[in-house]
Amino acid sequence: MKLVQEAEVADKRVFLRVDFNVPVKDGEISDLNRIRAVLPTIKYLVESRCKLIIGTHLGRPEGKPSEETSIAPVARELQRMLNLKVAMAPGIFGAPVEKLVESLQPGGILVLENLRWDKREEENDAGFAKELAQYADVYVNDAFAVSHRANASVEAITKFLPSFAGLLLQSEIENLGKIIESPKKPFIIVVGGVKIKDKAGMIEKLAPKADKILIGGGVANTFLKARGEEISESVYDTEMVADCEKMLKKLSKKIILPIDSLKEEQSGGKWKIMDIGPDAQKKFAEIIKGAETVLWNGNLGYTESEKYRDGSLAVAKAMSQLVGKTSVIAGGDTVGFVKSEGLDKNISFISTGGGAALEFLAGEKLPGIEALK
Ligand code: 3PG
Repeated sequence: MKLVQEAEVADKRVFLRVDFNVPVKDGEISDLNRIRAVLPTIKYLVESRCKLIIGTHLGRPEGKPSEETSIAPVARELQRMLNLKVAMAPGIFGAPVEKLVESLQPGGILVLENLRWDKREEENDAGFAKELAQYADVYVNDAFAVSHRANASVEAITKFLPSFAGLLLQSEIENLGKIIESPKKPFIIVVGGVKIKDKAGMIEKLAPKADKILIGGGVANTFLKARGEEISESVYDTEMVADCEKMLKKLSKKIILPIDSLKEEQSGGKWKIMDIGPDAQKKFAEIIKGAETVLWNGNLGYTESEKYRDGSLAVAKAMSQLVGKTSVIAGGDTVGFVKSEGLDKNISFISTGGGAALEFLAGEKLPGIEALK
C-alpha cells in the first residue's frame, strides 16, 4: 500500500476521499470527531501545495439530492477549523463545478457535494469513478469509516488514478491492526450495543487472544436468553440466540455477563433491562484495571437516559485510568459517550469507524483498503 507521504502532489490536483458522515441537524454538526480526524491529512496536502478536491458522502440519500444531506454545513465547519478558505461546489458534476476545479490554485480547497446524491456511487460504477477521476491527478483515501463499502469513490476510482492511503487510514490500520495481531496481555474486550450480529465476527476473531470478554447492553440480553435466563421484555436478537449459546459453550471461561442489572418496570408485571447493575459495574471496572489492552465497542445501557449511563461510565472511567496502556474505542455511540463525559483524554486510540472498524477487527478485507494494495 502506498502512503500519501510518498505521493508527488505539489501543483497536482488531488482527490481526497474522506468520511464526513457526521450528524447534522438544522445545519448544526453535533459530533466533529470525523472532521477533526482528517485535519492532519488535509493540512499536510495543503502545505504540500496541491490543489485539493475533497469528496464525501453524508447519510443515505440513495441518489436523491436534498438540503438535509448537503455537505455545505460540513464545508463551513472545515473552513472554520482550518482557518482557510474552503470553496463549496454546487454539485458533483456540471460546468460550474468544473470551473471551480479549474480555478483551484496550489493550496486551494474545494469540497464536492454529497457523492451519494448520485446513485452510481454506491453501485461502485466505473463510469462515475472515471468522471470523478478526471478532476484529479492523484487519489488519496482517508475515509477509513467507509472503506468497508465498495463504493465508486472508495474502490473503483483507484483503477483510474495513482492511489495512496491518507494519514488517518494509516493510523486506523496500524492501531486496530495491533489489536488483531499482537495485543499486550491481559487483553480485555468490552462489547455492548444492540446488534450482536454485527459484533459476532469480531468476538470470534479476537476471542483466542482475549483474556476476558465483558458483555453488556442488548448484546448481553441475547446471551442471557441463550443461557436460559428470564429477560422479560428486554431487547434481544431472536435470530442470534443459538449462535450465542455456541459462543457461551466455546468461550465459557472468557465471557463475563452482567451479574446484576438495572430494570425498568413495564405494564403487566413485565420489565426491561436498561443497564448493567452496580455489582457488574464494579466487576467490569476491576477487570479493566488489571488490563494491558482494552478494546471497547458498544454502550452497556440506554445512555440516552441519565438514569442508565452508569454502566458505560464505569467502563469509561476505568479505561481513562489506564495510563501508558493500550485503550481503544470504536463505534460512534461509544466514542460520543466517552467524549461527552470528557473521558477521552487518556484513551490511546479512538477509531472513526463504526461498521468498518467491526469488519476490520473481524479480520475481514475492506474493499477500500484492498484497492490500495
Ligand atoms: C458509517 O457511518 O459507518 C460510514 O460513513 C458508512 O455509512 P453507511 O453505513 O451509510 O454506508
